[in-house]
Amino acid sequence: MSELLKVENLTKVFTSGLIGGYEIRAVDDVSFSIGKGEIVSLVGESGSGKTTVGKLILRLLNPTSGRILFEGEDITGFNKKRLKTEYYRKVQAVFQDPFASFNPLHEIDRAFDLIFRTFFPETSRGERDEMIDKALESVGLNPDEVRGKFPHQLSGGQLQRILIARSLLVRPKLLIADEAVSMLDASTRIDILNLLGDFRDKYGTSVLFVTHDLALGYYISDSTIIMYRGTIVEMGDTERVFHNPLHPYTKMLLESVPDVNVKWEFRGIEPETEEGAVYSIEGCRYAPRCPLASEVCWKRRPELVEAEKNHWVACHLYGGE
Ligand SMILES: Nc1ncnc2c1ncn2[C@@H]1O[C@H](COP(=O)(O)OP(=O)(O)OP(=O)(O)O)[C@@H](O)[C@H]1O
Ligand SMILES: [Mg+2]
Repeated sequence: MSELLKVENLTKVFTSGLIGGYEIRAVDDVSFSIGKGEIVSLVGESGSGKTTVGKLILRLLNPTSGRILFEGEDITGFNKKRLKTEYYRKVQAVFQDPFASFNPLHEIDRAFDLIFRTFFPETSRGERDEMIDKALESVGLNPDEVRGKFPHQLSGGQLQRILIARSLLVRPKLLIADEAVSMLDASTRIDILNLLGDFRDKYGTSVLFVTHDLALGYYISDSTIIMYRGTIVEMGDTERVFHNPLHPYTKMLLESVPDVNVKWEFRGIEPETEEGAVYSIEGCRYAPRCPLASEVCWKRRPELVEAEKNHWVACHLYGGE
């Protein structure tokens, strides 16, 4: 599979508070790539840095260091104009809360205005209407049922489909979906996941699917990246990561997925480390929670190593050193 996006040593450091704040290394030396037509899920608990990775790729945030190569070109230096006219033609995003993306006072049709102004300025009113209808139909909506309506007259699922239709109107090469189905009911969720899969099959659209829900990641993706506190702890073929999890954190995550066939037992919450302290750990960020941590884990950051074909893990248990 040829490469579409590659991030190299991507790092974003925030400071908590103004005075006496500590460093939050929200994304810390993260490298991965997404192939053309590949669906990659980015999984991890709250605060692991998933949204920050998405925002860096979208250049809604500037990286502290590292590179983002799209089709081989480093986009970290793109100015606003290049981002708007070139990059966003190829990279689009859908976020969690569909209600927040619409102006409650405007008919939903108006949500398409900016896309037309930016990318299809020459189109006539009639052409635009036709393009909107087609885009809505492509996400399973009947244009007559949604056009001319206000956001409050539609369901969250319908609004999210409209946003996806809008993003896909420019036929992007990469769609970043950040918790894009988290607010939807289970059946709408699956419909939308299938829709993304269909688009990939039809147009070769790659997807970075950001989620804290492992089951959704498993359902939709070819590859999975597991993040913990700003670092990638494991990544690779989804089947391999799920059926042969290597990192203690991945194992813990998979064990905590509720299974309808197993009576749920409370196992106790793992001790959490204070946020500021986590980012100052020289070694593995998971060490304070890891039942298998040894001295080296606190001292040295484990590198990602290929433990089996297309399956990497950053853990001293597999370092071979
Ligand atoms: N603008 C900001 N300023 C300061 N800290 C930030 C900022 N944005 C994010 N952070 C911090 O960076 C860390 C990673 O946040 P991020 O939103 O990327 O996590 P996430 O994995 O998307 O979590 P969630 O699953 O809750 O959406 C968190 O500790 C967060 O508080
Ligand atoms: Mg997030």
